Amino acid sequence: LITDVRLRRVLDSRGNPTVEADVVTESGGFGRAAAPSGASTGEYEAVERPPTEAIAAAREHAVPRLVGTVYAGNQREVDAALHAADGTTDFSEIGANSAVAISMAAAKAGADVLGAPLFQHLGGTFRGENFPIPLGNVVGGGEHAADATDIQEFLAAPVGAPSVEDAVFANAAVHAAVADLLSERGVPCGKGDEGAWAPSIDDSEAFEIVAEAVSMVQDEVGFNIGFGLDVAGAELYDAESETYEYSDRSRDTDEQIAYIADLVEEYDLVYVEDPLDEDDYDAFADLTAEVGDQTLICGDDLFVTNTNRLVDGIDRNAANSILIKPNQIGTLSDAFDAIELATENGYDSVVSHRSGETEDATIAHLAVATDAPFIKTGAVGGERTAKLNELIRIADDAT
Ligand code: PGA
Ligand code: ZN
Repeated sequence: LITDVRLRRVLDSRGNPTVEADVVTESGGFGRAAAPSGASTGEYEAVERPPTEAIAAAREHAVPRLVGTVYAGNQREVDAALHAADGTTDFSEIGANSAVAISMAAAKAGADVLGAPLFQHLGGTFRGENFPIPLGNVVGGGEHAADATDIQEFLAAPVGAPSVEDAVFANAAVHAAVADLLSERGVPCGKGDEGAWAPSIDDSEAFEIVAEAVSMVQDEVGFNIGFGLDVAGAELYDAESETYEYSDRSRDTDEQIAYIADLVEEYDLVYVEDPLDEDDYDAFADLTAEVGDQTLICGDDLFVTNTNRLVDGIDRNAANSILIKPNQIGTLSDAFDAIELATENGYDSVVSHRSGETEDATIAHLAVATDAPFIKTGAVGGERTAKLNELIRIADDAT
């Protein structure tokens, strides 16, 4: 039985305040988790409130419903109590940041009571044996860095890696190779919010460099490495002019579809996230019809980890993959439901970090627990390696 829930403000990787929760149980179980935070957030995400307000509201409404009433190990009940305490459909009362921190902390406390690792508690004894392939952000711009690429993320995808460990190190090697290639070209640069290089180059040069870096590392390691994109199309889209606004030109929706389809062909892209605006299911469906058999078309801002939006997407054949961010929907149970619905309908799940992160590694366990085929959690940087190293540890423990 949960006996205490403590909430506090801690720092995230951007230096902004975020919500951290501690959950304590009667039998001495303890769990701690913190909420991440997005910069290129989807319009339909659950609502993140300023941490001080989210904490005050959760103390008033959620904590009394949990303490002395709910077992930490009963995740469905914990998350139902959070929904009941909030009373809205988008966590705008207690804040999705308070909700997700409590939901994840309760899961860890539940695992602690059982004396089981979190992935085991969440996935159960009969979970699959698969490990997710990490997608590693190596070059980026958009809302994550000023004066860098228009496309938000260029992602290494070590699809042929024989193990999680090999995959994680391959992504770091691609990240390092990109730095070498940039320096050869005399391009100085820092890093964006997710640790990817944020050079002041145009997208076509970024494609050249990432393709070369990937092929160099592929030759070294001897397994297949592809790459992919998070276009973050909603950030490029101007609803007034109905065009996608790039630094050098604009594209209407048909041109955007053709552009992405050409990129998939030219670079053999294995993954394309949010190629189009978050309101444009039809354009997503057109692109998926065109290249969906060659690559993953993934909805992040399109689906926001929300089963209602995913149902619409499935009905319209809008994509073949979904990004899963627990804080977009507010609880682990909701994130689980989205993954389950996706799997039942042949959609691949990609469990994901946010651009603003903490040392919290819950998503590594969530990905393993649900047999998600992919995890997107950066390539380097402490708040990213927290998840990557946890994946390596889980694989080490499990084998
Ligand atoms: P965000 O970006 O966390 O800033 O929303 C990540 C993404 O778009 O995938
Ligand atoms: Zn995205």
